[in-house]
Amino acid sequence: MEKKQTAATESHVLVFPLPIQGHINPMLQFSKRLASKGLKVTLVTSTSIAHSMRAPHESAINVETIFDGFQEGERAASPDEFLKRYKATVPQSLAELIEKHGSSPYPVKCIIYDSVLPWVLDVARNTGISGASFFTQSCAVSVLYYHEIQGSLKVSSEAEAVGVVSLPSLPELEFNDLPSFVNGAGSYPAIYDLVFSRFSNIDDADWLFWNTFNGLEEEVVNWMASKWPIKPIGPTIPSMFLDKRLEDDKEYGLSLFKPNSDACMEWLDSKEPDSVVYVSFGSLAALGEVQMAELAWGLKRSNTSFLWVVREPEKEKLPNNFIEETKEMGLVVTWSPQLEVLAHKSVGCFITHCGWNSTLEALSLGVPMVAMPQWTDQPTNAKFVSDIWKVGIRVKVDEEGIVTQKEIERCIREVMEREISNEMVKNSEKWKKLACMAVDDGGSSDKNIEEFVTKLVCNSN
Ligand code: UDX
Repeated sequence: MEKKQTAATESHVLVFPLPIQGHINPMLQFSKRLASKGLKVTLVTSTSIAHSMRAPHESAINVETIFDGFQEGERAASPDEFLKRYKATVPQSLAELIEKHGSSPYPVKCIIYDSVLPWVLDVARNTGISGASFFTQSCAVSVLYYHEIQGSLKVSSEAEAVGVVSLPSLPELEFNDLPSFVNGAGSYPAIYDLVFSRFSNIDDADWLFWNTFNGLEEEVVNWMASKWPIKPIGPTIPSMFLDKRLEDDKEYGLSLFKPNSDACMEWLDSKEPDSVVYVSFGSLAALGEVQMAELAWGLKRSNTSFLWVVREPEKEKLPNNFIEETKEMGLVVTWSPQLEVLAHKSVGCFITHCGWNSTLEALSLGVPMVAMPQWTDQPTNAKFVSDIWKVGIRVKVDEEGIVTQKEIERCIREVMEREISNEMVKNSEKWKKLACMAVDDGGSSDKNIEEFVTKLVCNSN
């Protein structure tokens, strides 16, 4: 990557995501944008994921690993145990890293931390550097979490909420459109606390970055901006898939899973344009066994070629003989190079859980979606995909909470049948253009990034 030779090269920032794929990806791509403007950027990861990290061979950013309470390969018994030990260990590890760089030619000026780790701001204050919070989810979802904290979104049952959630800057939302945690912590108290903790010191952060872009969530962004000086900087899609300005973007990711890249791409190459359904539920979601079977038989019923990512622990839920019975029409892999897959001309539809990254990736690459949300922010993202941006349709769930094989088949047909999905495809193209414009030279997100870099450099002189 060609770096601008400015005083920025002297300015060093740390970028610190929660160590899960859906948070590493956007913060790594943001790091690359900062590095392209000349900043020295270090992405900080931690020991619990070090054994599974596949880092780019050569990159404009450095990667450093700190101790997070877990030895390489050691696993926590539960998210609660992980987060407890992580929070007890990381502040000191981070402070030591910042101090270590203090005596180098590149002392750290700022730490950009995952908004779900607000206590990193205390580390910044104690070590005399500035702190920027990075929100990895949509602005709409953040607004809903904010209202929940304020007590203005009290919905304790589905009956109470049908058609009645009406909040400034948001469309009318039904119970099933709300993030799952708005309805309580369920069996994930630690994740629940994490999700809401990001507002605990939002007023104190020096910068607030959001992975969204101008036009996509305009009213919600404006509403948020009336409360805090938020900066949309997205979409954090690698440059090689969007504006193609960053030169060293070939090795673009830092993956915790090993993708079956050659198998996927060779298989896609053998297919006709717009003929393949790509299916993925991201890095965390786990489908029940009944749901897995319905999805499998729905894919078969659709009689459409499919590429399905079934992560290793999920594989045992596949119906017996499914892979054998569908080997002529489908390919099942444990992890894919998702962006390359979505950018491939053969892919005509994406069945997605609507994780925010997957949603932004499909929007930015112009692929219409079948939205099948599972939990956290995904129901709200699905609502926007189907009803606001109109780039996909959302599956209907039956009384037992299952999306049946018939429904899967119906949704695939509706999106793959271009005469029916014509409007969706046109809308997808529109968002693709806007995404590209936002990050291109002088675009709205690019300007926000530029402003941060300029202020950081001026403050350090
Ligand atoms: C999590 C949450 O579940 C999600 O709702 C939240 O918005 C972000 O954190 P995850 O479930 O993993 O993330 O989904 P998503 O946000 O879509 O991120 C998955 C990432 O992994 C995407 O960048 C996607 O491109 C990548 N991926 C996924 C692959 O590279 N290969 C795959 O096979 C599947």
